[in-house]
Amino acid sequence: MTAVQQKVTYTSTNVDLDGFHRSFDEALARVRKEAGKSYPLYIAGKAVESDREPIVDVSPIDTSLILGRFASATPAHVDQAVKAARAAQKAWAARPWQERVKILRRAAELIRERKFDLAAIMAYEVGKNRLEAMGDAEESADLIDYYAQQVEDHHGFTRAMAQMTPIERNTEVLRPYGVFACIAPFNFPLALSTGMSSAALLCGNAVNYKPAEDTPWTGLKLYEVYRDAGVPAGVFNFVSGHGREIGDPLWQNPGTDGVVFTGSKEVGMRIYHGLSSAWVKPCLMELGGKNATIVMDSADLDAAAEGVMRSAFGLQNQKCSATSRVYVHQAVAQPFLEKLIEKTKAVKMGDVTQRDVWYGPVINQKAVQRWEGAVAQAKKEGKILYGGDRLKGDAFDKGHFVAPTIATLPLESTLFREELFAPFLAVAPVASLDQALAETNKAEYGLTAGLFSKKQEEIDRFFDEVEAGVCYVNKKSGATTGAWPGAQPFTGWKGSGSTGKGGCGPWYVQQFMREQSRTVVQG
Ligand code: UN1
Repeated sequence: MTAVQQKVTYTSTNVDLDGFHRSFDEALARVRKEAGKSYPLYIAGKAVESDREPIVDVSPIDTSLILGRFASATPAHVDQAVKAARAAQKAWAARPWQERVKILRRAAELIRERKFDLAAIMAYEVGKNRLEAMGDAEESADLIDYYAQQVEDHHGFTRAMAQMTPIERNTEVLRPYGVFACIAPFNFPLALSTGMSSAALLCGNAVNYKPAEDTPWTGLKLYEVYRDAGVPAGVFNFVSGHGREIGDPLWQNPGTDGVVFTGSKEVGMRIYHGLSSAWVKPCLMELGGKNATIVMDSADLDAAAEGVMRSAFGLQNQKCSATSRVYVHQAVAQPFLEKLIEKTKAVKMGDVTQRDVWYGPVINQKAVQRWEGAVAQAKKEGKILYGGDRLKGDAFDKGHFVAPTIATLPLESTLFREELFAPFLAVAPVASLDQALAETNKAEYGLTAGLFSKKQEEIDRFFDEVEAGVCYVNKKSGATTGAWPGAQPFTGWKGSGSTGKGGCGPWYVQQFMREQSRTVVQG
């Protein structure tokens, strides 16, 4: 098999690495040549300029590398986009669902065709390593196919219903809401943007899409994929801009029928509370986590240390799914921590566009500051076991590099509760599974959770009692990370989500539609 045919997931190990890296090197060179251009918004299929200062998109690996200048939309542009979306949506919804499925499946194919370039852009723009970046591109294509499959399996969500009298014919159909605002985060700039928007589009909605301020280039590439696949003008509008200027107008516009958002709990709660003023509107949200991994005394400690290290420091902990706290049984705390530190030390850090570099920069200066704040707090409240410094010298001086950091802390520390989205892992010994579960469930978040144990009764109790939507046991390739479409629905409980039905799962697509019951009485 050639590298091009192989699928890379977040947990791949069996890749033809030479072929993969050759293709990746070529893509990096192509992408690098494209860097530094200026880009407009795209509304109703047309390029639209803005007189505001553009967003200057720089690489977190080397902040002197300007990837592009992206138009910064104003509230008036949002208005224009909402009008364009409303105008285009009806005809899109009126098309047979098979046509929408065909167009979206074509988009999945285009992502696969362009995956090396897409991954190379994400490596530069996010600071993702090569395999993570390719995983993001592959997941995007799989998300579309999985959601398209849901529409097919449910025959376009139309079904015959019971007859109450012999002369009536009853049907129920799910129909689109209309126009969704789709507001995406930086960390999986293609997969999360594609997942949210493709589900909305498959159902016959139009989408006004705002990529994260840190990753507009990847966002624009998604616009091009949809355009080239045949999504009609106006059905998917590309509205890059600053959250503080167009974030609120996007969802507050009366012509916006629903919101799909992945990002912080703080912003999510604002949208949720503000969205439904005239009537209740759908608000699909995934809002981060403070994910715990529990390591019991029966665990395979090598596997536990590997799984925690990969999950805590993969993509520099900037995944909603990342492990950011560990409760380890006191009987094995010391050997577990020794192994964890040993594995963390072995990580190759630096310019992640290079082959074999696994750990890169955090996304921006704000992330550095959050990490610095956590380190300062940990020095006061507990003990830093590893890391704690900014990385310096050579490649590190060019970007936002901070050391993967492990600290032991008292259980009451707020560092066990607050999401940081930075490579900082809080660890505490516990006396029992009871205590570990109680501590895990104290956080207001409930996204992912991990357990390492060889005892079936502990595994059963973990699943039954942990308050989280995505749960893993003994996952060495990433204790709490690596969910994939059709394999692990990604559902946030409590402060981590809004609807209880997550992306990557079988109940996701339907949420972009509302029911209509159709009764015809004959004779
Ligand atoms: C996220 O971090 O917001 O499970 C999404 C994972 C990935 C991404 C999670 N599918 O690790």
